[in-house]
Amino acid sequence: MAPPPAGLKVRAASARDVPSVCSLSNEPGYRWGTLRMPYQTEEATARWLAAFTADDHLLVAELDGEVVGLGGLHRQPGRRSHVGVLGMGVRDACRRRGIGTVLLGGLVALADDWLDLRRLELTVFVDNDTAIRLYERSGFVREGVLRAYAYRSGHFVDAISMARLRGIP
Ligand SMILES: CC(C)(COP(=O)(O)OP(=O)(O)OC[C@H]1O[C@@H](n2cnc3c(N)ncnc32)[C@H](O)[C@@H]1OP(=O)(O)O)[C@@H](O)C(=O)NCCC(=O)NCCS
Repeated sequence: MAPPPAGLKVRAASARDVPSVCSLSNEPGYRWGTLRMPYQTEEATARWLAAFTADDHLLVAELDGEVVGLGGLHRQPGRRSHVGVLGMGVRDACRRRGIGTVLLGGLVALADDWLDLRRLELTVFVDNDTAIRLYERSGFVREGVLRAYAYRSGHFVDAISMARLRGIP
């Protein structure tokens, strides 16, 4: 398999990324795999970004000056401060080039090497085989099925809860 595209870099998202993040969130494939609503506006995207705290880490994958992927890692408060909740997506036209793998690697490295998070968790729709395989390759395991987790394209869809533990007996 070819390596990830040359020049691909992972960096922190910033306010200047609002238009790119908004257009990414409006892509049908991105919406299909996530909880994004249709018709995202730049204003709502800006508000979403502005509400982030020091415990919210939003990374973008950038290729040739364009944002091609988005990944969030959200440290939980209080007695769940060892937990990070993770979400991500790649631009529809840029899939299957290794970008998701690189982006997930960036999120996991941030969690392991800089935040000392011990449990990373996420939910993924049961029919999102590509995402499930991606997470399993990075050490996430299935913990259970969440019935009728979300409404998507006129149907309720189940989700799988997945987690990756580190240094927990
Ligand atoms: C899930 C998602 C993030 C994966 O992103 P991606 O960039 O396609 O991921 P990768 O390219 O690293 O890996 C995907 C597949 O492409 C393959 N691949 C990677 N590099 C490749 C290359 N150069 N050539 C061909 N195939 C390649 C991988 O082996 C993997 O194959 P598999 O599906 O058989 O396991 C992406 O599909 C997505 O954004 N989906 C919509 C949003 C979403 O579902 N997010 C997850 C919410 S839980």
